[in-house]
Amino acid sequence: MSSPYYVTTPIYYVNGPPHIGHIYTTVVVDVMARYRRLVGEDVYFLTGTDEHGQNIERAARDHGISPQEHADQIVAAYPPLYQALHVTNDDFIRTTEARHAVGVEAIIARIAAAGDLYVGSHDGWYCASCEAYYTEKELAPGNICPTHETPTEWRSEENLFFRLSKYQDALLRWYDEHEAAVQPESRRNEVRAFVEAGLRDLSVSRHGLTWGIPFPEHAGHTVYVWLDALTNYISALGFGHAEHTLYDRFWAHDGDSDGGTGQRTHAGKRIHVVGKDILRFHAIYWPAFLMSAGLPLPTSVVAHGWWLRDQRKVSKSSGNVVDPGELIEHFGADPLRYFLLREMVFGQDASFSDEAFVDRYNSDLANDLGNTVSRVLTLSRRAFDGCTPPSRGEGPLETAATEAVASYRAAMDDLAFHRALEALWRLLSQANQFLVAREPWKKMKDPDARDEVAETLWNVIEATRIVASGLTPFMPEKSEQVLTALGASVPASVDGLGWGGTGYEVPLPETAPLFPRIDKAVYLADAARPASGGAQGAASPGGAAKKETKSKNAKPKASGAKKAGGESSVIDIDQFFETELRVANVLEAEAIPKSNKLLKLTVDAGEEAPRTVVAGVAKQYQPEELVGKQVVIVFNLKPAKLMGVESNGMVLAASEGDGAVLVRPIEPVTPGTRVR
Ligand code: MSP
Repeated sequence: MSSPYYVTTPIYYVNGPPHIGHIYTTVVVDVMARYRRLVGEDVYFLTGTDEHGQNIERAARDHGISPQEHADQIVAAYPPLYQALHVTNDDFIRTTEARHAVGVEAIIARIAAAGDLYVGSHDGWYCASCEAYYTEKELAPGNICPTHETPTEWRSEENLFFRLSKYQDALLRWYDEHEAAVQPESRRNEVRAFVEAGLRDLSVSRHGLTWGIPFPEHAGHTVYVWLDALTNYISALGFGHAEHTLYDRFWAHDGDSDGGTGQRTHAGKRIHVVGKDILRFHAIYWPAFLMSAGLPLPTSVVAHGWWLRDQRKVSKSSGNVVDPGELIEHFGADPLRYFLLREMVFGQDASFSDEAFVDRYNSDLANDLGNTVSRVLTLSRRAFDGCTPPSRGEGPLETAATEAVASYRAAMDDLAFHRALEALWRLLSQANQFLVAREPWKKMKDPDARDEVAETLWNVIEATRIVASGLTPFMPEKSEQVLTALGASVPASVDGLGWGGTGYEVPLPETAPLFPRIDKAVYLADAARPASGGAQGAASPGGAAKKETKSKNAKPKASGAKKAGGESSVIDIDQFFETELRVANVLEAEAIPKSNKLLKLTVDAGEEAPRTVVAGVAKQYQPEELVGKQVVIVFNLKPAKLMGVESNGMVLAASEGDGAVLVRPIEPVTPGTRVR
């Protein structure tokens, strides 16, 4: 039987519409769930919303509606957004549902039965946004909340307390005995140090706050929002209900026991993915509640970093939210998913900017992936009557592919998503280099070279198929499109990543462009965003902020270049971007008869077929010394005839006196890479 794999996102507060930070956790968990399904595990993916507490009550009051109406309005944004993002959650729990309250009441009954609740008085510094008390030591000067950078308030109340201090040693043992309990390791050390410094009992009820679950047997008190919220992870599985098959399958079997401590066990994986700001609640409070209730603990609490904009956490309170809806509209869901997983080193913070987004889209997706696919398909169609090659010869790319898949799988197991993607891109680049080195376009008409051409193209198609198969958890829709274009099917399991899946003589119908290039200048100007990103560029779901920022950031039109310092003309960035500069590999170089200045170069600029460029560098360079070198060309220059040879572009060179020194990247890059 396949092993259970239960994975959760935090449940999101409904004080505002979902932003990029929320989407990130959801997409990460979706990638994990999709990958584990491919591995063959019995996956259950839970997400949902956290709807109680003072924050929500306040937000509803600001809108002049009831908290439930407010929650309903915000929650309505989730299904269409998740659908657009291809999120495959199995359930969506809302803490205002009756099934959840049953679970909360049941865990409280077990905690009470363990003797871990008592009435006491509580005073301290309280952050309403965190819904948590802080010690003075934890606050920034001026009693400022370390997470929200807003003032905390002094509170005094009579509450129910949970004997958290009693679990200090058991928690330390848990961290020490279970390497995976808190990930990454740096976070485990942080949590461990916090617990070791001493835990105080925790108040788990609020007096006089009506928007919450009534505390069983304590009229006038509601359940502390974190005890309420954390319990979603088991209430959604049916904990506390007579019928709890999912709970048995994914959290605890009746009768599971570790033989004496009263702590129940369960062989499956139970993984909570959370942002670093809420790690304390998940890695300290939640396991302590479960220990008290005698229930199995999560197998891992995994913390990721924050998306920042202008060095600050993207959040509603900072007013710098990035609206996922707008990005999906411009780029599609899959490029957004790809960007989020590729750009952030899982566990660390990352900066969001529109510019970085467009750059990654154009270089990784349009150029590396899109161009490779369309190039190899065009060649195969041309050489083999619209089909994949009829034979494969040897497997010169097989070792590279096997190594890439091994690195990819190890990285997926380590939740190092950026490394998994890097491994796939390495293979893509090896396949590209192999294609360029083999020059099949030159041999296609030679009947003696038919086997060699088949071998080259089959190997490149196969490597690309493996890349696309590895991408299915990340870009479910686009990877399917790529696989269909390659005449392959979507893998049903990780076995599909094995070498040899490409069929012979499979028809390759023409397909729509996979990743049409985005004109960055136009996109940035259109969205009226600052090129480096920033709070002003933040868009609101209603688009109001967009309109407002448009006038603030609108760039002057490129009318008439101004003179600066009396020397160079000043041009608008849009004008600069009209010139498309790209890196190209020189495949061949020859002198042009009767010209002592011009060389004819055949270059690979990342297109389906090489192009010819005439360069005026014959005085400085011998043709043979240029072969194999990289140059930079003006890619979108109108073709011109020079000494009878059509030149499709211009090679960049620094002019010094009479001479010209060719410009090239200081490290090799994939041909076709844009220079800006
Ligand atoms: N409701 C609680 C979680 C309860 S779980 C039992 C909560 N909600 S939240 O809406 O504020 O945040 C939900 C998740 O989104 C957290 O994991 C948080 O770290 C994540 N993010 C919110 N803003 C973020 C960024 N700017 N970047 C990355 N993730 C961040 O906390």
